[in-house]
Parts: sequence; structure tokens; C-alpha cells
Amino acid sequence: MRVTIIGTGNMARAISARLLAGGHQVTFVATAWAKAEALADELRGEGEISPSETVDGEVVVLAVPYTQAPHAVRQHADALSSAIIIDPTNPVDFAALEPIRVELGSAAAVIEAAAPDGARVVKAFNTTLAGPLLAGHVAGQPLDVLLAGDDAAAKATVSQLVSDGGQRPIDVGELARARELEAMGYLHMRVQGPLGTFFDTSLKILTP
Ligand SMILES: NC(=O)c1ccc[n+]([C@@H]2O[C@H](COP(=O)([O-])OP(=O)(O)OC[C@H]3O[C@@H](n4cnc5c(N)ncnc54)[C@H](OP(=O)(O)O)[C@@H]3O)[C@@H](O)[C@H]2O)c1
Repeated sequence: MRVTIIGTGNMARAISARLLAGGHQVTFVATAWAKAEALADELRGEGEISPSETVDGEVVVLAVPYTQAPHAVRQHADALSSAIIIDPTNPVDFAALEPIRVELGSAAAVIEAAAPDGARVVKAFNTTLAGPLLAGHVAGQPLDVLLAGDDAAAKATVSQLVSDGGQRPIDVGELARARELEAMGYLHMRVQGPLGTFFDTSLKILTP
């Protein structure tokens, strides 16, 4: 499957590594062509990857800061009218390490409101930290990737992408659950200090 990733930062790199490991094709769309080209060059040995000016493909990942996500959606609206939009954003003020209060209850709801009618938003990857996701494991175990959305087929597609990349998808329900996923994402950052860890941890549901 061809997946476009908007953004070229930590999460763009980590999510693309998982997608490429799963045999999927990745296109980067950046704020500047040179940034997309540089990340594509860095990862080219891992699979089929290219820079682009335009969003293309059935699945689009918004690997941008929460504050930029609605703008990116509007900017690429023409290409998103039937797309699955993966939203990994966490509405957090990183300088203060405090949550940003969002309208509509969650960043995902704000993104859905900005998206064209036919787009299907799936919250995913917001509870996984970039370093562990890039590695694909913590303490020898694959990561749990919690996801939420209102469209079953879109969630099945995202779940398949996650498992193709060697991780465990867990469907937590409708897009309204993004609110709780964003709270989890925030708390996962917050506990780094008390744990003395360096954003190298993973949230895991242990099963008997
Ligand atoms: N890092 C983590 O461990 C982690 C974990 C879970 C979720 N998240 C979430 O994932 C998202 C990305 O985080 P990150 O760590 O990857 O951030 P980052 O390293 O700061 O990268 C953000 C990227 O977004 C790009 N960008 C901003 N506005 C854009 C636009 N309109 N069009 C295209 N690209 C745009 C930036 O481009 P420029 O370089 O040109 O500014 C940059 O490449 C955030 O919402 C964050 O909350 C992060």
C-alpha cells in the first residue's frame, strides 16, 4: 500500500520505518522539498520511499504538531476526500509539559472537523514514543499501537499496517475514544521523569 506521511520529524521517521518494514511504500510531504528529499535519502535502503510535493494514496499520516494538523488537512483537502487520515498527534505544550485544552474534546475531533466529508480519521500511534517505534521493540517485545475511529474498514486497514510492521494493533473503539488516547499519550510523556527514563518506554497491555 502507498502511504503519504506529512511531516519529516521524529514520528515521520518512526512510522515510515514500521511501514517500510511491512513492505509498504512511503511518500514524504514536507514544508520544504529539501526536507522530504533528505529523509527519503536517509531511509531509501529500507524500502520504496520518495519525496513529493503532493499528497497521494489511500492512507495519509499527519506527523505534524497538533497545532499544525488542521492547517495541513486544509492545505491538502483535495487529496483527502476519500483518504484514511492517521492522526498520531498529542495536544501538548511540550515546553511546559502540560496538555493543551482542545475544542470538541480531542485533537482527533478537531482534525475530523477540518477534513473533507469523505475522509476517515483514525487515531493511532499517539501513545507510542518515536524512539521505540523506530526500533520496533522495547525489552524484546513489540509495541502496542492503540487506535480508535468510526469507520471499521479504515481501522482494519490501519491495524493491518501496524501488524505488517511487526507491532500489535489494539482497537479501543470509536473516534470519541481519542480523548482518552490523548490523555494516555500525555501521561506516557509525564511519567518519563518519575521513571527516570528517556522517552524510550512503551505502554503495554499484558495478557495472560
Ligand atoms: N515524538 C514522539 O515521541 C511522539 C509520540 C507520539 C505522538 N507524537 C505526535 O506526533 C506529531 C509529530 O511529532 P514529532 O515528534 O515527529 O514532531 P517533530 O519532530 O517536531 O516534527 C514535526 C514535523 O511536522 C512538520 N510540519 C509542521 N507543519 C507542517 C505542515 N503544515 N506541512 C507539512 N509538514 C509540517 C515539521 O516541518 P518543519 O521541520 O519544516 O517545521 C516537522 O517535520 C506531534 O503531533 C506529536 O504530538 C510524537
